[in-house]
Amino acid sequence: MGKGIGFGKVILFNEHFVVYGVPSIVSAIDKATVAVVERFDGEGWALEDERPATPGYKEEKLEQQRESIERILKAAGLDATKNPIKIWFGGDLVAASGIGASAASCVALARALSDEFGLQLSDERINELAYEGEKAYHGTPSGVDNTAATYGGLIWFVKGQPPLFERIELKEPVEVVMGNTGIVADTAAAVAGVRERKEKHPEKYAKLFKEAEELAYKARKALEDFNLKAVGELMDENHEQLRAIGVSCEELDRLVELARDHGAFGAKLTGGGLGGYMVALTPGKELQEEVARAIEREGFEALRTRIGVRP
Ligand code: MEV
Repeated sequence: MGKGIGFGKVILFNEHFVVYGVPSIVSAIDKATVAVVERFDGEGWALEDERPATPGYKEEKLEQQRESIERILKAAGLDATKNPIKIWFGGDLVAASGIGASAASCVALARALSDEFGLQLSDERINELAYEGEKAYHGTPSGVDNTAATYGGLIWFVKGQPPLFERIELKEPVEVVMGNTGIVADTAAAVAGVRERKEKHPEKYAKLFKEAEELAYKARKALEDFNLKAVGELMDENHEQLRAIGVSCEELDRLVELARDHGAFGAKLTGGGLGGYMVALTPGKELQEEVARAIEREGFEALRTRIGVRP
């Protein structure tokens, strides 16, 4: 039996912009997907997915998940027709849009395969395999999600060949609340939408992309200085930029506003958008609880977690 885990993630700055080479900042969260791989008597591979999930998520992603598993097996050089396996997914990360669920499961599976078949894959190789798997969900993923799911911690990530990945040191972990709209969103469609609008309005988008790039450097400095007020303000600004490129929605805007009204230092959509999660910066347990309860009172699910936790 082989076992592996992959961390969930929260993008703090520049999802979508990152697809075009703009720097982004991402943190792993303290929730993870676990994969177990076992040889069995059946044919090919079989899947048992017991992750907690937003209703509808697993059903909607099933085709993409199957393709993703095929891609990972192929990239690992494994043939399930010769070595039939049962794959089990579990853990405490909710399978939902915006929280890195697909990347976490790809990393967990790559690690479990490495364990079961004695492949001794390095983290770098695990990350590469997970990136292959992510293509089934995103089309052209930047690689930010699988990088966070593999390495954990707080990361400065720039897409490229190879991608640039640097650790950002945070003085101490900081509480955040992630509010789930409950809407299952299609990341590939959200990314395609940005591409279409960007081609249609090149000047407007060039300006927005320049601003997002400048913001990333300010955000990195604010995090390194542990200036959380500034981090929050920059998250607010980033949300406006994401709205401007068309990836927010009514529910996300509502959650963002709710979090700010209850004292969050800043709030924004996180991940692919058009549903999925919002993240609010809520330093200290008390503020975190206040914001999480406000979200729950409105009938949404709130996840209390922290950024900057090193594995
Ligand atoms: C999705 O979590 C993040 C996006 O930027 C897509 C990607 O980076 O591949 C929307």
